Amino acid sequence: MAYPFRLPEVVYLGRGALANLGQEVKRFAASRALLITDAGVQAAGLDKKIIGMIEEVGTKVDVFAEVEAEPSTETVDRAGRLVREGGYQLLVALGGGSPMDVTKGASVLAVNGGSIKDYVGIELIPQKGVPAIFIPTTAGTGSEVTQNAIFAFKEEQVKKGVVSRHLLPRVAIVDPELTLSCPPRLTAATGVDALVHAVESYTALKATPQTDIYALEAIRLISASLRTAVFNGSDLEAREKMALGSFFAGVSLANAGVGAVHALAYPLGGKFHVSHGVSNALLFAPVLEFNCLSNLAKFARVAGAMGEPVAGKSCREAAMLAVKAVRELVEDVGIPTRLRDVGVSEDDIEFLTLSAEKQTRLLSNNPRAMTRKDIERIYSSTL
Ligand SMILES: [Fe+2]
Repeated sequence: MAYPFRLPEVVYLGRGALANLGQEVKRFAASRALLITDAGVQAAGLDKKIIGMIEEVGTKVDVFAEVEAEPSTETVDRAGRLVREGGYQLLVALGGGSPMDVTKGASVLAVNGGSIKDYVGIELIPQKGVPAIFIPTTAGTGSEVTQNAIFAFKEEQVKKGVVSRHLLPRVAIVDPELTLSCPPRLTAATGVDALVHAVESYTALKATPQTDIYALEAIRLISASLRTAVFNGSDLEAREKMALGSFFAGVSLANAGVGAVHALAYPLGGKFHVSHGVSNALLFAPVLEFNCLSNLAKFARVAGAMGEPVAGKSCREAAMLAVKAVRELVEDVGIPTRLRDVGVSEDDIEFLTLSAEKQTRLLSNNPRAMTRKDIERIYSSTL
């Protein structure tokens, strides 16, 4: 079966990529733009430079910086109303996955109306939204290249995804220099998330030869540079490898999808407010261990791309090295490895299991079928 392969219209990738922002803003001939960001980005002072660059080409810019971590449906609905009522002709997303996802939502809500809750699911958005430029400041979510956006539904204590070709960014500007101020813990969590994107999409049922190229290169780049990026954040070479790796992982994720790591991670964000990166990191090795047997050859290549000594090993032995390599990487960068470390107790396993089971879009793409019992066992063994 052949699957569609999509990319943003324009991508600038690498050191100095940000220098292209002015000409891209100009291309949209917008008199007014809205910059969507968050308090962390403002505290790091990254917004000022971007505002200056937009104004320099004659576009007036306002700022919406009320995006919280793991953004709620209320926040995106509010941003959508602001874009519609304010008559903004261009949006600029600056930050990690949260501001980027809110920008995607606000863009389509401004044109289509309603609440983001009306569009949960696949391809339910009728018309394309207000054009937007995406500038990530973390190396991890890949949101700048995907057609997905994830929001927290507060009442239900769950996170749900909106998937539509109209969410695919028009322009992505990925400049590693913007990640230099990203603190170690955030670098670790978002970096592991990027590796999860690469490994999950590489081994997903929807993986294609085209997505495999991006995924394998992402696994190589991230495995070789994440520790340095965490422990020496000013190392621009490591930051650049992470930016490229995260982007390539995003390309693979956007087109091949992810699987059970994300499915089992979402309920942790919804109920326990564990960040997306940490949730994924917690479930990464346990789910990988479960999945390994489904495609030994591919998991063996994951181990090789992570720098494990696979030569002379049997396929099974090599595949198991991928699990070991992931476990070591997560531990080395200081992310919790037990669910109890983030406040989960035995009494919560049932809620988590029932909630994860509903992530059918993700579970149906996992290389090994997962029953309710399997999900429960994985949570229990990670407690
Ligand atoms: Fe993710």
